[in-house]
Amino acid sequence: MPSSEIKYLTLSQEDLVNAGAFDLKLAISALKESLFKFKDNRILFPDKIVQIFKEETQERINCLPATLLDEKICGVKWVSVFPPNPKVYGLQNLSAIIILSEIVNGFPVCVMDGTLCSNMRVAAMGATAAEVLSRQDSQVIGFIGAGEQAKMHLLGMKAVRPGLKVCKIAAKDDYEEQDFINQMAPLLPDMEIIPCHTVLKDAVEGSDIIVTATSAQAPLLKAAWIKKGAFYSHIGGWEDEYAVVQMADKIVCDDWETVKHRTQTVSRCYKDGIITDGDVYGNLIDILSGEKPGRESDDEFIYFDAVGLAYTDVSIAHAMYSRAKDANVGNWSYLQEKMIFEKELTGKIQF
Ligand SMILES: NC(=O)c1ccc[n+]([C@@H]2O[C@H](COP(=O)([O-])OP(=O)(O)OC[C@H]3O[C@@H](n4cnc5c(N)ncnc54)[C@H](O)[C@@H]3O)[C@@H](O)[C@H]2O)c1
Repeated sequence: MPSSEIKYLTLSQEDLVNAGAFDLKLAISALKESLFKFKDNRILFPDKIVQIFKEETQERINCLPATLLDEKICGVKWVSVFPPNPKVYGLQNLSAIIILSEIVNGFPVCVMDGTLCSNMRVAAMGATAAEVLSRQDSQVIGFIGAGEQAKMHLLGMKAVRPGLKVCKIAAKDDYEEQDFINQMAPLLPDMEIIPCHTVLKDAVEGSDIIVTATSAQAPLLKAAWIKKGAFYSHIGGWEDEYAVVQMADKIVCDDWETVKHRTQTVSRCYKDGIITDGDVYGNLIDILSGEKPGRESDDEFIYFDAVGLAYTDVSIAHAMYSRAKDANVGNWSYLQEKMIFEKELTGKIQF
């Protein structure tokens, strides 16, 4: 008789860190692999389910499934986005949990924190784009926004552009810039991190790589500040003036068909008739696969916009789970030890 026990590994964020799974290179490699596999139809990627609890504040929980056919893993990210959290409660906006199941018997294998994976995925996407679209000699990176995405993006960019030596950081408040410096400087001892004291222009002027990662919905980034040859990774919603999109030599997306229905600056430009489908150079996979060239000159200004593809989360989560399992980290829990009527039930049930 086969055993009826079903066990899964529980991994907290701390477990993942202790297992060495907070590894941007691991995330970048898993993300790239999944982009190729999706192109080859080796990934199932159904529509996400969105439940919005308050229209005004967009408090929501999204359910994002995907299946990695070759790895025989089906996963789902259950992600909460509660924008008022930081201001009203002093708590984080985004939190997530991920469930992975094998698809041989269909049993769960892991329940893990998904916040770390989710944030690493955003950075891994930007970094993968920077690897093929930024100048190889990039030394200066400038940020508008100093929050969780900005911090992770800096690590991702450093993983693909180790020559980066100066980081300029501008946020809404001075204390946020200082928090960013306090947390990031010990991790990047070879980097000079300069606060811009909320002067956004100072973070952007002279930067080879520009990142906007803000909760604002406003044209913060101005075209006139951008130097020739820069690479721009746009993470938030509406963060730059239309002229930034218009001056781009190439606009590249994670997936333009998804991006164009959202509320990013490029999506707004599309809806307002400022750009058409023909103005978008392509998706990142077109460049990674060699179908289209990436950067072709040192002077090109390249604009990258990603809204997130949840199969990349599942792929990164699977890589993190594998590493944690190899490191013997986390706790195994029983979903069941025996089937329902194999258990001793006398006196314990009601009917
Ligand atoms: N593209 C994706 O795949 C993806 C994934 C997750 C999150 N996001 C988005 O990324 C953005 C940042 O997320 P986060 O978790 O880092 O948020 P966060 O709350 O941790 O940080 C937001 C930052 O924006 C800055 N900011 C807000 N208004 C500003 C202004 N007017 N001028 C300058 N700076 C301003 C704040 O100072 C803060 O540093 C959000 O819009 C979020 O929705 C995108």
